[in-house]
Amino acid sequence: MQEVDTRSGYVCTVVTVSPEETRRLGEIIGGLMTGGELVAINGELGSGKTVFVKGLACGLGIKDKDVSSPTFIFVREYRGRLTLYHADLYRINRASDIEDLGLFDFIGGEGIMAVEWADRAGDLLPDNRIDIELIYLGNDNRKIALRGSTGVHEKILRDGIAMFLSGCRDDE
Ligand SMILES: Nc1ncnc2c1ncn2[C@@H]1O[C@H](COP(=O)(O)OP(=O)(O)OP(=O)(O)O)[C@@H](O)[C@H]1O
Ligand SMILES: [Mg+2]
Repeated sequence: MQEVDTRSGYVCTVVTVSPEETRRLGEIIGGLMTGGELVAINGELGSGKTVFVKGLACGLGIKDKDVSSPTFIFVREYRGRLTLYHADLYRINRASDIEDLGLFDFIGGEGIMAVEWADRAGDLLPDNRIDIELIYLGNDNRKIALRGSTGVHEKILRDGIAMFLSGCRDDE
């Protein structure tokens, strides 16, 4: 069956060449968030989803060394400028299981919800969200595709990418 992605919105891609750069991109974007954002993160094992979330945490005023993958707990909560809820759906067997986990209780409140392996929720996650996809390019290079579904998301991503590109590359 062919999957048709009907969601539209702002889309941009950035290539990072180290974990520090992916973390920095997350930190900048986290710093621009105002609360209520849902960030759906996808990418193969080891592509850098948790590295990106650690950056988000830092941008929210949370010590990123406290942030670890919530694989066995599913949702971890960190208090910062805004509360970060960090979920990992890798071990989800059926999309409907996420309802039992209470994932939706955390979405759309004052905090930020970051979900690794978000695709495992199928179409149960709200469309109103930021999507981050990390693609392994070999060695330490990752292509990061960022999509925002609303004008507010678009502004966060545009501003964040501009800050990222101007701040950490001497050669661009
Ligand atoms: N450009 C890069 N961006 C992010 N991580 C990178 C990059 N280059 C190398 N890495 C390394 O890749 C690994 C990414 O690990 P991470 O735990 O973030 O992946 P993940 O996508 O969360 O995996 P999982 O699916 O197991 O949760 C780290 O060891 C990190 O140092
Ligand atoms: Mg992870």
